[in-house]
Amino acid sequence: MSEGEKKAVPLAVEAVEASLANAPLGHRIIYLPVVTSTMDIARQEAEQGGEEGIVVVAEEQTAGRGRLGRRWVSSPGQNLYFSILLYPSRWVYSRLSVAVPVAVARAIRHTCGLYPEIKWPNDVRLGGKKVCGILIETALQDAEVRYAIAGIGINVGSNPEEHPDVTAPTTSLAAELGKPVSREDLLQAVLTELSVIYMHMRGWGDAWGEWQTLLETLGREIQVRWGEQVEEGVAEAVDGEGNLLLRRPDGTLVTLAAGEVTLQI
Ligand code: BTN
Repeated sequence: MSEGEKKAVPLAVEAVEASLANAPLGHRIIYLPVVTSTMDIARQEAEQGGEEGIVVVAEEQTAGRGRLGRRWVSSPGQNLYFSILLYPSRWVYSRLSVAVPVAVARAIRHTCGLYPEIKWPNDVRLGGKKVCGILIETALQDAEVRYAIAGIGINVGSNPEEHPDVTAPTTSLAAELGKPVSREDLLQAVLTELSVIYMHMRGWGDAWGEWQTLLETLGREIQVRWGEQVEEGVAEAVDGEGNLLLRRPDGTLVTLAAGEVTLQI
């Protein structure tokens, strides 16, 4: 029996939504049987001022899209296709393509007992075959991120042999396990895992921003000594690891690792 002929059981999103009522992501789930792409609906929500953590889930996508302009085959009833609306800082945004596949890998481990790996940048694979694709789209205004949408497609129950047109090696969780997998459990697990990682990142982002605000050193003329060596210039910025970027009088920039220097302001 082909996928199209199998009797599709609709996703029971109410229970998932109820279990995530107090979670940052998934407290509101918009469920639609057919869409062009869940990315489009999430984008509409964002443009109407929708709150962070709204999730759009569909049974089927008629124009599912992947990275690099590829299409994402989205046949009905067997898999998970969903998008999450986020309002991240630039710092958090730049780490979403790390956070999302890790959340998916953890969710698969916990719900299925399978141990996925990540193919750079963010394909989640089992035994070298793709089981999940992730697409992160963003709306920018000047240097700021207005919103980001994390789109996740997981092959839960599909039979990879029914899509010979998809040339890259793919598999599904059910095919690997040899038994059905609950789409509801998996959706809940992904949203829970991503909520935890996302809140940690936001917390770190807050601390990072505050640290830079409090750094009295930035913008000042300073002298830095370590051992016999001395550098003078303007403390221009700090990089992601907390190293100090010093602009020398000749205009060149030098990176000074924290812990090696003493400042004489
Ligand atoms: C890729 O591997 O190229 C990324 C695939 C992302 C597919 C998901 S399915 C849910 C969301 N809606 C889409 O149209 N794409 C993403």
